[in-house]
Amino acid sequence: MYYPEELVEEVRTRNDILDVVGQYVRLTKRGSTYFGLCPFHNEKTPSFSVTPGKQMYYCFGCHAGGNVITFVMEYENYTFPEALKYLADRAGIALPEREATAEEKREADLRSRLLEINKEAGRYFYYQMKMDREQRAYRYLTGRGLSDDTIRHFGLGYSNPYENDLYQYLKKKGYDDAILKETGLVKIEERGAYDKFWNRVMFPIMDVNSRIIGFGGRVMGQGEPKYLNSPETRVFDKGRNLYGLNIARNSREPYILICEGYMDVISLHQAGFTNAAACLGTAMTQGQANLLKRYTSQIVLTYDSDAAGVKAALRAIPILKEAGMTVKVLNLKPYKDPDEFIKNLGADEFRKRIEEAQGSFLYEISQLQTGYDMRDPESKTAFHRAVAARLCGFASELERDNYLQAVCEEYRIPVQSMRQMVVEEARRTGFTGRSVRAGEARMTQEGTGAGAGEGAVPRKGRREKEDGSRTSQKLLLTWLSERPQLYQKIRELLVPQDFTDGLCRRVAELLWEQLESGLVNPAGIVNRFINDADEYKEVASLFNTRLPDTMTKEEQAKAFQETVVRVKKNSLDAAAAAAIGVAELSEIIKQRAALANLHISFD
Ligand code: UTP
Ligand code: MN
Repeated sequence: MYYPEELVEEVRTRNDILDVVGQYVRLTKRGSTYFGLCPFHNEKTPSFSVTPGKQMYYCFGCHAGGNVITFVMEYENYTFPEALKYLADRAGIALPEREATAEEKREADLRSRLLEINKEAGRYFYYQMKMDREQRAYRYLTGRGLSDDTIRHFGLGYSNPYENDLYQYLKKKGYDDAILKETGLVKIEERGAYDKFWNRVMFPIMDVNSRIIGFGGRVMGQGEPKYLNSPETRVFDKGRNLYGLNIARNSREPYILICEGYMDVISLHQAGFTNAAACLGTAMTQGQANLLKRYTSQIVLTYDSDAAGVKAALRAIPILKEAGMTVKVLNLKPYKDPDEFIKNLGADEFRKRIEEAQGSFLYEISQLQTGYDMRDPESKTAFHRAVAARLCGFASELERDNYLQAVCEEYRIPVQSMRQMVVEEARRTGFTGRSVRAGEARMTQEGTGAGAGEGAVPRKGRREKEDGSRTSQKLLLTWLSERPQLYQKIRELLVPQDFTDGLCRRVAELLWEQLESGLVNPAGIVNRFINDADEYKEVASLFNTRLPDTMTKEEQAKAFQETVVRVKKNSLDAAAAAAIGVAELSEIIKQRAALANLHISFD
């Protein structure tokens, strides 16, 4: 960041969030919060909130959130400096003028030269394929059913078997060792330079703007590793790009197909499914999900039908949903991957499978069920309980009930009994099920945005496993930011180190500082994370968990106390797991026991 923190904070505080957001979104006041239709996803009922007290916005549907600066960045598609400039102008603050520093210029120049070299290499591989007398790569690709058009369209090529042919070629073009090393295409050692790829079919990997950022290379036939990929470089960030998305983004279909492999993407495109893209040999990341969200709100997963594919799908679903998309899962059986499927059954059958794709919630439940023995009453009940727990994750009562009915029908569970079990589960886990118990009108307003869509699980999602403890940590941060006076009640008991979740702890450290000084300012904390969109959104969500504001005072105190106890207990458990020595352990046990006597009252 080039601007001093004080200046950024000055610009932020001089632009009231309500005024700024109010320029773009029609807001209606409800209590201390304003609600409106979220500008970041499609919805019919307002789940987008602005809280002047916190100077933050947060969408309970798509989880967009942040402060006034991030709002302008996201709404106007501005970079941070652009947003800062806009808001500074708006408030009549003069920003120090400045040129790009030498360092920045150098970096920009380096990146553009790396892209240039990649393009050069892409061309080189393509011509190698044409020039090869034995036509090894060309025969391999056509042997797998690819047409000349397809080969050209994806810029496929060939790296010949000579150990540094590409290196020599690029040297002749005038690039020096230092920059060539940064491309990841060559290895330069004391004894000489070597190409990374040789005797492979080459797949150029492009960013959404069709610039070559790296390569994948496949052995022709058997061999290890099957695919070799460029390492991450200054221009190749695997977690923020998808193979084929440069083409898929222009498709007219309302959804994007996500598969596992390069060959799957290419086969699908050749068969007419030009809306297919693939993660780059890694698990789906939040960065990729956010990128996809720019182009679509619906994803159809067509991962391999083996165990690894199922696992990858289960991991991808919450990430994609958290980014605000609906997800369906396509069944490829009895074939392994889309490439194989298309070869055997053709495009029409594949299209049918798209139509039959299962919604992600029912898919997750069906996978969940495989872990239970349905002939054993105990195991079966445990399955039902697990289903109930998942149903609790829906914030909207109507939505929850729709899913409840669908699940009950599918697994022949009596609807009333499941409703009962959901209520029990909600009681047991406390906060998650508040709307389950109370069914307040307000709750149905939240998290029901169309974009959040099918199976939106606002408070759960990606971190399902640690959900309980992480939710408590988030809740506590929200409590403290909204009611700083509560700090006095826990000051003796909790320190930021008690937050086991990394981001929660970093935020807690900043919040604790503010609580100590008596000037609580969550939107200022967001500034610290402004360079990473995923992080500031996450931070915004930490300050925007739902508090039980319609309960009686005693109930609120009880809920707060439960949250505090859970956070502390979780911290002690983590400490116990890491404890060395009996003395340390017995101290932890003592503290745990003391928690039972904790009593917090609101007065
Ligand atoms: P697959 O093994 O399913 O490859 O790996 P594929 O695309 O279906 O290839 P074919 O049809 O056998 O030629 C899926 C993806 O995982 C990454 C690649 O991105 C590949 O497309 N991968 C796989 C690697 O990066 N390295 C490997 O050794 C294997
Ligand atoms: Mn495959």
